[in-house]
Amino acid sequence: MLVIPENTGDLGTSVAAVIGDPISHSLSPRLHNAAFAALGLDWVYVACRVPKGQGAQAIEDMRALGLKGLSVTMPHKAEAALAVDTLSDTAKKLGVINCVRVEDERLIGENTDGVGFLNSLKSQMGIGVDDLRVVILGAGGAARSIALTLAENGAEVGICNRTEAAAQELVDMVGNESFVVDQKAIKSAELIINATSLGMNINDPMPFDVNLLEEGQRVVDLIYKPEKTVLLKEAEVKGLETLNGLGMLLYQAGEQFRLWTGEEAPIHEMAQSVGLAF
Ligand SMILES: NC(=O)c1ccc[n+]([C@@H]2O[C@H](COP(=O)([O-])OP(=O)(O)OC[C@H]3O[C@@H](n4cnc5c(N)ncnc54)[C@H](OP(=O)(O)O)[C@@H]3O)[C@@H](O)[C@H]2O)c1
Repeated sequence: MLVIPENTGDLGTSVAAVIGDPISHSLSPRLHNAAFAALGLDWVYVACRVPKGQGAQAIEDMRALGLKGLSVTMPHKAEAALAVDTLSDTAKKLGVINCVRVEDERLIGENTDGVGFLNSLKSQMGIGVDDLRVVILGAGGAARSIALTLAENGAEVGICNRTEAAAQELVDMVGNESFVVDQKAIKSAELIINATSLGMNINDPMPFDVNLLEEGQRVVDLIYKPEKTVLLKEAEVKGLETLNGLGMLLYQAGEQFRLWTGEEAPIHEMAQSVGLAF
């Protein structure tokens, strides 16, 4: 008689995954598998295409499969937040998660985008954000994560968005030190961040009037494909320091790795795996 051993969830190799749709383009497997290899951890990370509407089911599947970590990307970030057992304070405020960790068999929803952005700024631009005057273009999911973290870390955050009601909703969520602004606020900002989706396609209009840019300002575009958007190219022509979103992607993955394994992420090996040198 064939005896199938009971699945104790303790099978040696720990499995982590990312759910999303589309997912084949995701750099997350490269980043996380490079990290596991660098530290010699017996972990593996796989990408799973999960169609829209099945995010909550995938969270239940995570329990059944005994996954040790889960990354969550579009379109499941909000649905997954409702399906986990509890949320970190940040995830609760944002209402969306990009990561699930397991603690005493409970699934905890986290959002590591904000801290990923902050760590990218610190490491790649060498700047802290306390008292920094920032203007964020956009008020979608990415803008919400970074606005909250920037304000919590002492920055003064202006939100400029096509749909003003969404900008106001974001400011209401963030609270102190955040304001709805128009494009003119860019002139007096120290850091300008494009968190709109404008720039992913070559024919997209600019997210704001680049004539508003001033000497000494820094410009970040959360987009990393293309590696350099037209906005970043124009800012560089003006002699400004720029950064794309690949560092944010790297550091948000690093934070997920830390939450799952308890180990500091081997950032250099992870960066190398996606062709990022610094
Ligand atoms: N580097 C990273 O790790 C990372 C992580 C997440 C996202 N991102 C990038 O960040 C960008 C935003 O992502 P998201 O998840 O926040 O998207 P989202 O939730 O869909 O938000 C899109 C934002 O772009 C604005 N927008 C879209 N089309 C516009 C147009 N024609 N004119 C003016 N504004 C327009 C929207 O304004 P309305 O409110 O008016 O619609 C909204 O504020 C994307 O390019 C994404 O690739 C990067």
